[in-house]
Amino acid sequence: MIDKNSPLPIYYQIQEWIRKKMDDGEWEPGDMLPSERIFAEQFNISRMTVRQAITELVNEGLLRREKGKGTFVAEKKLEQPLQGLTSFTEDMKARGFQPGNKLYEFRVTPPSRDVADALNMKKTDSVYELERVRLADNKPMALEMTSIHAGVVTNLSKDIAQSSLYNYIEQTLGLTIGHASQTLESALAGEKEAELLQIEAGDPILWISRKTHLQDGTPFEYVRSAYRGDRYKFSIHLPRSTRRH
Ligand code: GLP
Repeated sequence: MIDKNSPLPIYYQIQEWIRKKMDDGEWEPGDMLPSERIFAEQFNISRMTVRQAITELVNEGLLRREKGKGTFVAEKKLEQPLQGLTSFTEDMKARGFQPGNKLYEFRVTPPSRDVADALNMKKTDSVYELERVRLADNKPMALEMTSIHAGVVTNLSKDIAQSSLYNYIEQTLGLTIGHASQTLESALAGEKEAELLQIEAGDPILWISRKTHLQDGTPFEYVRSAYRGDRYKFSIHLPRSTRRH
């Protein structure tokens, strides 16, 4: 398995050995790896070399370390297409996950200046402010801070906020959601994101801001979502335009 005469560095050979165990399904997400000491004894190499191999796989996101517990095979990342205006609930159901919500904040207030600008609101209008942790099979995937124009999306309640907003807007209110624009920014989790998403402060997250309009152009929501960097990768289809300069 480990060839000490090979020109390939030993840490690299260990890494490939671990990778193969995961590819073959012998080690599955959530499984704990043997300790560095056991690895070192098994392959008759130093613990430093084992650590180097593991650290690189942790950095790649294939393994994760838990303080005081050990090293585990990481969950597979979920691939989220960036085109297509879908809801969290729809996205999770399409993948066979049970969508869930933890509602941390629900209030009605006048809009902040940013929200008023984004949603074309007057200072005297009201906005629903929601803070939700979105769950897949009970595991936190994203934190969402949502502002909803209360004059457009009426009679929102805590109950509705704990299920699908888009479903309420379309099925109950009979409105048609038309289009949205989004921006993406990478960041590191602060204390608050870390606690709510059950990750460590300093772990990578991706902020996605979305402004959504009804079909007639009326903007109704402005959302900032923090997605866990270890659970998501985003994909996009890029057709090459035929009209080029
Ligand atoms: C995604 C979007 C949000 C949107 C939400 C609606 O998570 N990033 O902008 O508010 O879907 O999801 P649901 O209908 O499940 O509440």
